[in-house]
Amino acid sequence: MTSPSLSKPQTAKVGSFLRFLRRVVAHWRAIVLLLILPSVVFLEARFDEFARFDLILLALLLIFIASQIFWLGRLIELGERFIPRRPRRVWLAIIAAWSIFVFLYSYSEWGHGHVIRPDDYRPQSMLIHAAFWWWFVGSIAAFLLVSAFGAADRAARAAWWVYRKGRTTIHRHTAAPDAESTLLSPGRRRFLEQTAVLVSATPFVATGYGLLYERQNVEVVRQRVRLARLPKAFEGFRIAQLSDIHLGPFTTADYIRRCVAITNGSQPDLIALTGDYVCWDPEAQGEAVRVLAGLRAPHGVFGCMGNHEADIGIEDSITRLFAAQGIRMLRQERASIRRGDEMLNLIGIDHGGDVAPDAEQQVEGDRRLQQLKALIMPDTVNILLIHYPHAFGDHELGIDLTLAGDIHGGGQLSLDFIHPGLNLGSLMGVPYIRGLYKNGGEQLYMNRGIGITGLPIRFGARPEITMLELDRT
Ligand SMILES: [Fe+2]
Repeated sequence: MTSPSLSKPQTAKVGSFLRFLRRVVAHWRAIVLLLILPSVVFLEARFDEFARFDLILLALLLIFIASQIFWLGRLIELGERFIPRRPRRVWLAIIAAWSIFVFLYSYSEWGHGHVIRPDDYRPQSMLIHAAFWWWFVGSIAAFLLVSAFGAADRAARAAWWVYRKGRTTIHRHTAAPDAESTLLSPGRRRFLEQTAVLVSATPFVATGYGLLYERQNVEVVRQRVRLARLPKAFEGFRIAQLSDIHLGPFTTADYIRRCVAITNGSQPDLIALTGDYVCWDPEAQGEAVRVLAGLRAPHGVFGCMGNHEADIGIEDSITRLFAAQGIRMLRQERASIRRGDEMLNLIGIDHGGDVAPDAEQQVEGDRRLQQLKALIMPDTVNILLIHYPHAFGDHELGIDLTLAGDIHGGGQLSLDFIHPGLNLGSLMGVPYIRGLYKNGGEQLYMNRGIGITGLPIRFGARPEITMLELDRT
């Protein structure tokens, strides 16, 4: 069946829209530059401690815009190559729908989910959410790789040009090798094009792997922690830490049950939960608690509040639900863990909300610090459960070991296996990302979490259950 042909005014509209799209693609550098300048001037004018974070967000946004314009250009090329004579409205409709969806979806509620938040369990919403994030991460990474590849090609051509000029100068009467023609040969161009296609496909494959596999490929990390003041009775004491559970559409109860079974199978002496039990849905708290109620340890299960509990206002209700299951949330409280005549002092502090105004968070942070100081026992080993360790490194308070999470191993996207610090968290200026940190006599363990929030992808940041074994030497 043939498609009905377009009327003249319709054809004119389609043609002018295409011309507009081509202009956008042709001038993408100028457009991005125009967007950058006023924003940078504004941020520099009010430079404060959050300006770096805002500048990084802005850079990410601009790279995103540039990458979408770049891919729009490739899509137009593809459309013209494969359906040159067909009525263009089919692929025009696809491009228009894609552009509108990507921009609307990405511009809303930066940093706190998108139009369809990850607490929407409908299959179609989950599919759109997953597809969006796969495209978002894959298209930006592929754009950066293709740009780097293009820059390397230009650098190679420039080097050849310099080399050729040098040869010509030295051997004035000798014919220099025609390097430029070699570089511009059809064979080389074809090779470069094919390599660029392969290079640009890699991030999409990697993101698909992170979405479909690594996201729930949980790893049990065994970490020995030496504490000089540890009482002899606690030598070999084992603490299992679970963090950032985020029960929701992409972190199902079945997956959390699997994590609970793995934890119990390791037979820890005590279990520590370091916050963020749900994503954005208060209704999910009941199920999160029911699933975690399966955790077993002879010295008990303890926890602290994360920012998500504060942000959606469930700190009190989830504490009551946990208490009914025998799990104790430590909220500006301490608990004595005893073995014989000896003890450890376990402290828990609330994180507070991340969506509160900055000044309010500062006041809250200062208040929490004072409360923490009052809970420390100077002659005892103090272990702190806190969602993110704001005070670690700034103050030596006498806390021997802090257990925290929050950063999801570097924003769930990390290339630390290539170079330490190549992860989203570090790029945002977050000092503590994953693993063990030391500051004088104090130590901090940053757990990568087992769930996800925002993007349903983990790459280079596998979900983690930590088995910490305390030692004196
Ligand atoms: Fe979290």
